[in-house]
Amino acid sequence: MPDRPVPPVVAARRLNCRSLAAAAVGTAGAVALGGGLAGMARPASAGEAGHPGHGAGRRVLPSAPAAMAQATPVADADFQLGPGPNRWVEPPVLRSQAGVLEVALEAAPLPAAGTGRMAYAGTLPGPTLRFRPGDTVAVTLTNALGGDMTNLHVHGLHVSPEGNSDNVFLMIADGEQFTYVYDIPANHPAGTYWYHPHHHGDSWQQVSSGLAGLMVVEGGQDDLPEIAPLPQRLWALQGPFRTPDGWVHTANGVVNPEITLQPGQTERWRLANVSANDAFNLALDGHPFHLIGLDGNPLPDRQDVDDIVLGPGERADVLIQAEAAGTYLLRSLAWGEGGQRQPEFTVATLTVTGAAVAPAPLPTALIALEDLAGAAVDRRRTVVFQEGYDGLPYSIDGAAFDHDVVNTVVQLGDLEEWELRNDSAEWHPFHIHVNDFQVMAVDGEPFGAVNRQDTVALPPGGSVTIRTRFTDFVGRFVYHCHILTHEDHGMMAVIEVVP
Ligand code: C2O
Ligand code: CU
Ligand code: CU
Repeated sequence: MPDRPVPPVVAARRLNCRSLAAAAVGTAGAVALGGGLAGMARPASAGEAGHPGHGAGRRVLPSAPAAMAQATPVADADFQLGPGPNRWVEPPVLRSQAGVLEVALEAAPLPAAGTGRMAYAGTLPGPTLRFRPGDTVAVTLTNALGGDMTNLHVHGLHVSPEGNSDNVFLMIADGEQFTYVYDIPANHPAGTYWYHPHHHGDSWQQVSSGLAGLMVVEGGQDDLPEIAPLPQRLWALQGPFRTPDGWVHTANGVVNPEITLQPGQTERWRLANVSANDAFNLALDGHPFHLIGLDGNPLPDRQDVDDIVLGPGERADVLIQAEAAGTYLLRSLAWGEGGQRQPEFTVATLTVTGAAVAPAPLPTALIALEDLAGAAVDRRRTVVFQEGYDGLPYSIDGAAFDHDVVNTVVQLGDLEEWELRNDSAEWHPFHIHVNDFQVMAVDGEPFGAVNRQDTVALPPGGSVTIRTRFTDFVGRFVYHCHILTHEDHGMMAVIEVVP
């Protein structure tokens, strides 16, 4: 294990192993990266467009399913879907009424957004679903993709993985329709979540083509007096998409939207990386992020950080307080190394202008959670993420995903501690369905954070230790790397919780 320099933002590091940019740069481990690894490979022809770090000169794995090899989007239309170039726009909001939300989501190509694009309900990203703990959410998915199978996953929700709930083993064939029903527990954490297809082998293609949407569980810290009055802004971060102007990343389907605040004005931003493979290493010029939630869970205390690395699938809820008049870029800073290297790009432009307003007081204490550090552990396991083990491009504990094999059996109600080991030279964002976890240690060093996450990045050659309690739901579900190319190529495993 090479030493990693301590990142400059201590709070972020303590809280958030996603603040991995600084940790990743310049370590000896980087040397091992290079030609052989598929990394965040996308089709070679797409890579030829020369987006650095996004597949240029890289090859498709020999084992790549045919669908992936063919999935080269050729842009022939302007990407802009919103009201005009660079205009801020948010997807339509569908909200539960009297405890019920019924949604029709048709997954279909969206040629208006460019060749190869796909979207839910004709909007990219899909509509935002808002509901409350205790609600019932019914989503009727229609597969109008014109060929491939698809299905639906509600990322981060603590709901049953069985039957017609969050069951990713279901496959909805082209032309078919299926209604998922999610009973949201009365004590469900409030926060930012997202939905996306989870059809093994097609996940990268479908998500990277645009199939994703946000969900907000309301309540919880929404009701804190300092937070309740704040305007909210939802950010569904996607990309890269290929356009005539090159590769772009988008916020709510728009390249570099412009937003305006008055000096001193405070907003609440829900940031969600709903891309298939890319990280967003977010920093806003001249402004700290006042972090209040991660992965749909509140933090116990506000944490002020200068940058937040969101791996694919991860969310951060932050407060922003506008500084003096001026123009500030929200950037994704350069991140990663070797095959995972991403250049810096602009996400949005903030203009602060107009009459100054008195800055609202920011909350300090938020919502406390049980600290699993003090809990009795029923069982310990080690889970190893591998590349090139036994001829497999990507595997977990020596095996590639097989939907007929249960890799891990857990007793309902047990609290388990898992050491997640990364035996490769790339980052792998570990994600598990149904139950969130607390990060206990990174590379064996105590982490000291009391928050819940559903995704955490495993450093190259390193480890992350988590604790999780398997509550409320029995059934089969999955854990996997949330770089969807890796998942599609086998870095996923089946877990079953038994009564
Ligand atoms: Cu967001 Cu199993 O996925
Ligand atoms: Cu998930
Ligand atoms: Cu991975």
